[in-house]
Amino acid sequence: MRKEQVEELVNKVKEEVVQWRRYFHQYPELSFHEEKTAQRIADILSTFEGLIISRPLPNSVVADLEGRGEKRVAIRADIDALPIQEENEFDFASKNPGVMHACGHDGHIAVLLGTAKVLSQLRKELKGNVRFIFQPAEEMPPGGAKELVERGVLQGVDFVIGEHLWTPLPVGKVGIVYGPMMASADMFTIKIIGKGGHAALPHYTVDPIAISAEVVTNLQHIVSREIDPLEPIVVTIGRISGGTTDNVIPNVVEMAGTVRLFNPGIREEISSVMERIIKGITTAHRASYEFNFKPGYAPVINNKGVVKVVEEAVKELFGEEAIVRIKPVMGGEDFSAYLERVPGTFFFVGAGNEEKGIVHPHHHPRFNIDEKALEIAVKIFVYTTFKLLSQ
Ligand code: NI
Repeated sequence: MRKEQVEELVNKVKEEVVQWRRYFHQYPELSFHEEKTAQRIADILSTFEGLIISRPLPNSVVADLEGRGEKRVAIRADIDALPIQEENEFDFASKNPGVMHACGHDGHIAVLLGTAKVLSQLRKELKGNVRFIFQPAEEMPPGGAKELVERGVLQGVDFVIGEHLWTPLPVGKVGIVYGPMMASADMFTIKIIGKGGHAALPHYTVDPIAISAEVVTNLQHIVSREIDPLEPIVVTIGRISGGTTDNVIPNVVEMAGTVRLFNPGIREEISSVMERIIKGITTAHRASYEFNFKPGYAPVINNKGVVKVVEEAVKELFGEEAIVRIKPVMGGEDFSAYLERVPGTFFFVGAGNEEKGIVHPHHHPRFNIDEKALEIAVKIFVYTTFKLLSQ
């Protein structure tokens, strides 16, 4: 497949891709509730030739394109929106109050539809097969990817690729990472159980506030004193609550937080390390505790061979200067559910543009993307698919 051919075909669908993005932007749906979005996707896909469409869940769509050959590439888009009231004023702003595509997943849907349209036109030249996966609920653990994988969407798949439109990167740039790219995202709650009483008579109490303060500080010793400094890890307490007024020591303090890291070996042990510290401190001070660790998304670890194919595709399409070797990010992504089973890669497609005022971060009520990024992403998906299938 010559890149000129890809460019020509993508140029023919790029206007339509923008229109799709604007349509989905107007009708966002929350995680696990993407039924109308999925139906609309299926309706659009049904107008392309050669696709076998299935619906593993009512809020998901999977489409298979059969070419000539054994190998199969899966390409994934996440389709959910966020509980945010949109503050953009353009005419395609959200029509669903309190719900907004503030992470660019509207663009992901449009990009994958455009990719499916172009590849369906090229199916006779494909040396293998392509599976398009439109996945619900990326934004809310346990995520939609896990359930789709359990329902068999990776059966017969040799490679999996996915992208995120990314406004911290300017449009025209593509961010890649060889190896670990996004962190695991596990959650926990801690309850410190003391004995309440009068604030002026602390010796009759077991003060859970003072003990919690020590727990918060000492949990950071895991990061600074127990883990290899060359292994990135974040332990954050995002919520702490206890007490009602100045002169009362409460019975209980509750905390909640998250752990982010890349190394699966450390991830396996982290909850027992945390519990050892919580137990030690509470025991030392006559308190007790409840500790609940809830595994979230696994880390996104890219297959270096597949990253190389994407990098080559981007360089041929847009030149060497388009590639940015970005640093891994501590955010989580349930794309990891696919990467745990099949070699593949996730990558970031630059979608920011300071001159156009497209500067707001993801999940912001004024989040927007430079729509030029959409056609760039379609080109990368189409060209990379050909490269992977002709390996
Ligand atoms: Ni996102």
